[in-house]
Amino acid sequence: MTARQRHGTGRGPEATTPAAEAGTFTLGGDLTVNRMGFGAMRITGRGIFGPPADPEECIRVLRRSVELGVNFIDTADSYGPYVSEELIAQALYPYPDGLVIATKAGLERPGPDQWKPNGRPEHIRRECEGSLRRLRVERIDLYQLHRIDSAVPEDEQFGVMAELVREGKVRHVGLSEVDAAAVERARRVVPIVSVQNRYNVADREWENTVDYCEREDVAFIPWYPLGAGDVQVERAVERVATRHGASPMQVALAWLLDRSPVMLPIPGTSKVRHLEENVAAAALRLTDEDRVELGAAAA
Ligand SMILES: NC(=O)c1ccc[n+]([C@@H]2O[C@H](COP(=O)([O-])OP(=O)(O)OC[C@H]3O[C@@H](n4cnc5c(N)ncnc54)[C@H](OP(=O)(O)O)[C@@H]3O)[C@@H](O)[C@H]2O)c1
Repeated sequence: MTARQRHGTGRGPEATTPAAEAGTFTLGGDLTVNRMGFGAMRITGRGIFGPPADPEECIRVLRRSVELGVNFIDTADSYGPYVSEELIAQALYPYPDGLVIATKAGLERPGPDQWKPNGRPEHIRRECEGSLRRLRVERIDLYQLHRIDSAVPEDEQFGVMAELVREGKVRHVGLSEVDAAAVERARRVVPIVSVQNRYNVADREWENTVDYCEREDVAFIPWYPLGAGDVQVERAVERVATRHGASPMQVALAWLLDRSPVMLPIPGTSKVRHLEENVAAAALRLTDEDRVELGAAAA
């Protein structure tokens, strides 16, 4: 069975919320989420450091995302640091059934816009305890190694993730900014259910990794999904948007959802109006003409 057959990729009779319009993906064989998710990095201060300028609006964003059917939220201990996880708990705890909160560890934050890998097992373990406490959960549904730290043996980093699963503190493990070879190395130590790499309609560096994830039924979580920076691509995105009466952001998200059934976009925003616009993209269906235009533009 192909990933396309395994996962609901299109609107079904069960699609009762805007986020459900793009179908579902089942993480690790037991956690089914709507493919249109939410990234909670932007509900923090400038440089992803400290509290956001408008915390009340960020709380509204989180609550509205759940109302719209989003049940996959991505965060990290390093967003703020800690601010994003704390706001998620403040806005949404006690959590609605079926809400999957994915968090990450492995990056320290000396200051705004500064990210320092730390994959030492004792650090990951300490951060896991902190995330459990801040998110007020007994087990983290998806725990992602934010970066493989080149200063620490890989197997020690994968090994601590495996231990956290065995101890019941983590349900599933994911990696970030990795190629297929790294996933294969990690899989000798711990099952990997997701890969989170930078990817969007204008930035397809990880194209082969998307294909690998599709073959292996591993979720591909594209970060920076709205970063359509290339002018030529932007023109194509704009042309397609005009044809559909949609926004370029919506076309960028629809392209991702269309690209693979294992794709789980997590657009981030600190504004309710942007959230509503982004989630509505789950219902946008591209035509063959759109695919050719968007595909050729980035080639
Ligand atoms: N694994 C990693 O290394 C890694 C790295 C970066 C991010 N991430 C994850 O990926 C998620 C998404 O990445 P990202 O936040 O960098 O990029 P993104 O989702 O492509 O872009 C977010 C930015 O676009 C703006 N925006 C969002 N919706 C908009 C709309 N409809 N119209 C106009 N502007 C809009 C937001 O500003 P406003 O707040 O003004 O809407 C925000 O500044 C993050 O939240 C985080 O969970 C992971």
